[in-house]
Amino acid sequence: MNKELRKAVIAGNWKMNKTRPEAKALIEELKPIAEKATCDVVICVPFTNLETAVELTKGTNIKVGAENVHFEKSGAFTGEISADMLTEIGVEYVIIGHSERRQYFGETDETVNKRTKAALAAGLKPIVCVGELLWERKCDITKEVIARQIKLDLFDVSAEDAKKTIIAYEPVWAIGTGETATSEQAEEVCSFIREQLTEKYSKEVADTITIQYGGSMNPKNAAELLAQPDVDGGLIGGASLKAADFGVLLDAASNG
Ligand code: PGA
Repeated sequence: MNKELRKAVIAGNWKMNKTRPEAKALIEELKPIAEKATCDVVICVPFTNLETAVELTKGTNIKVGAENVHFEKSGAFTGEISADMLTEIGVEYVIIGHSERRQYFGETDETVNKRTKAALAAGLKPIVCVGELLWERKCDITKEVIARQIKLDLFDVSAEDAKKTIIAYEPVWAIGTGETATSEQAEEVCSFIREQLTEKYSKEVADTITIQYGGSMNPKNAAELLAQPDVDGGLIGGASLKAADFGVLLDAASNG
């Protein structure tokens, strides 16, 4: 990462894990570990743990995020949660367009774009996920896929709003598989994303946007990934569920 231009952001993505007592225990364990981090620290937790997480992290350097948000303000959308419902309880970040949402719940670039705009309008910081499938990488269309996602997902998002947005590059084949992109592969796509943002906005805007890598980032590979100039942090699944592992990633992002 380039520390002169950007601050690293390490965000945990707990996915569908942790009951409330388990969440409490993990956050209490995390607090003293996160205290010394100089990067931004975010935990994105299931809806049922949001209030607990906001309460327990008050006065600490840990920020809380949700794992999804609906794009309408209110109405007949059974099972959905609006951006205002999140900000009202103190949530600051939200993951949008995670590949699991796209794969299993039919989310499209169009709804990712709507969710991103709704989140920004409510004052949330979106973490917008992009990434190619293994099949797409094999067909050598990774860059086309990413360019298309950036165009569609950020359609009509102003430069000012783009600066508040985090892009997470998560190659779908590396998520939860133990298979990480090499640091060269991660850098190649993250710098390509920055080129796309430069084209869409300007170099000044693109230079301020945090681009994370996600996909089996762990204590062993984090330092090397985070040493890449365009990798400004990580979106962490599995390794965010153990305080000690997450702590190693916070150290790597703080000291790298
Ligand atoms: P993983 O998940 O670290 O378990 O691969 C990352 C993510 O899905 O955000």
